[in-house]
Amino acid sequence: MKVEKLIRGFLFACTNKSEAECLNSLLFATDKLYGPIVNRIRKGDLLFLNNIDTDILYGVFKTTSNGEFNIKPEAFDGRYPYQVMVKSIGDIVCVPGAKRLLKRYGVKRNTPLYKQELISFLEDLISQPKQSTFGEDLERKDSNQAIIKEIQKVNNNPAPVDIENEISLIESTTFWDFPKQSYGLTPKGNNKYAGVTPALIIYNMIWRYTELGDLVVDPMCGSGTTIDVCKEERRKVIGYDIHPTRKDIIKNDARKIPLEDDSVDMVFIDSPYGDNIKYNDEPDNIGSISSESEEFYDELEKVMKESHRILKDGRVLGWLIGDQWVKKTFTPVGLNIYVCLIKNITHVEIMCIARRSQASNTGM
Ligand SMILES: C[S@@+](CC[C@H](N)C(=O)[O-])C[C@H]1O[C@@H](n2cnc3c(N)ncnc32)[C@H](O)[C@@H]1O
Repeated sequence: MKVEKLIRGFLFACTNKSEAECLNSLLFATDKLYGPIVNRIRKGDLLFLNNIDTDILYGVFKTTSNGEFNIKPEAFDGRYPYQVMVKSIGDIVCVPGAKRLLKRYGVKRNTPLYKQELISFLEDLISQPKQSTFGEDLERKDSNQAIIKEIQKVNNNPAPVDIENEISLIESTTFWDFPKQSYGLTPKGNNKYAGVTPALIIYNMIWRYTELGDLVVDPMCGSGTTIDVCKEERRKVIGYDIHPTRKDIIKNDARKIPLEDDSVDMVFIDSPYGDNIKYNDEPDNIGSISSESEEFYDELEKVMKESHRILKDGRVLGWLIGDQWVKKTFTPVGLNIYVCLIKNITHVEIMCIARRSQASNTGM
């Protein structure tokens, strides 16, 4: 039996420069900033196109492909590689005063519409004064009928909600603060795991530094947050840990990773910050070594070297680390790790993450 999927509505933007290419080639496209949205679009969703120069909203389109990376690499001179193919539902109609209409429904590019909200938006769209794409009088009845048919489909669609109300966009500064451990409708990792990574850190790292389909490796993946984020964001992923907590994590010591040289698109690691958390009793657990000792940094440097070895040329290692403040002694673990990193990695950048609770599972 065919399982019906939720029909969602998404907004795309164009300018006077890109409008003709969008409408003529029936390919909607955007840059990496909106990549997470395109990643969530699938065949059968409804799209609207807003020309932000003229304030016109074009609709209604139905996607004929999933959202993908580079469906047509040469389109838009390569500037907008996150793409989806569309067809119009009836004639393409254009509604002036898009900003006002979008504001009324609180529609932004990262806020998908579905169920009743999508129905109301479509109903409002067909009741607006319209003009045809090319200025001629429009056979309005035809296109309205096609949209009304689509409204009925949305109305009869029994599928449960399977998308966030607001899709997180990529952070635009180097200071990141995530009040919650997870995002989306499904858990990412286990927020009860001491030392779990805030999932949006991994989300931001992979959206900045990899593309759909790239291979990401986490050599110390704890409760599996990297695995869950990568799956949702359509990256391939391998997660290792010295003490696996679930079946899809492979037991392995991060100082010797069983992968070939130059074979991985990104490595993400949230290593122990010292011996402040008891992860497990494994003899090779680096989390049982104090970050006040040289040995801690020597062992993590082995992990850095190994990560560097498996990374393809020019690709990125992301390392999350925090300082330690124990028994009135401050240890600048972050700076010490930075010193190790610059010895082993060609180019190092720092993002600051707001520190919240140890396990990240409270709002504190
Ligand atoms: C901060 S936690 C990682 C948290 C993880 N990213 C998550 O979201 O659940 C650090 C992890 O490093 C692992 N670890 C410590 N020594 C290791 C080693 N030698 N090789 C692989 N993993 C190790 C620990 O078992 C622990 O799960």
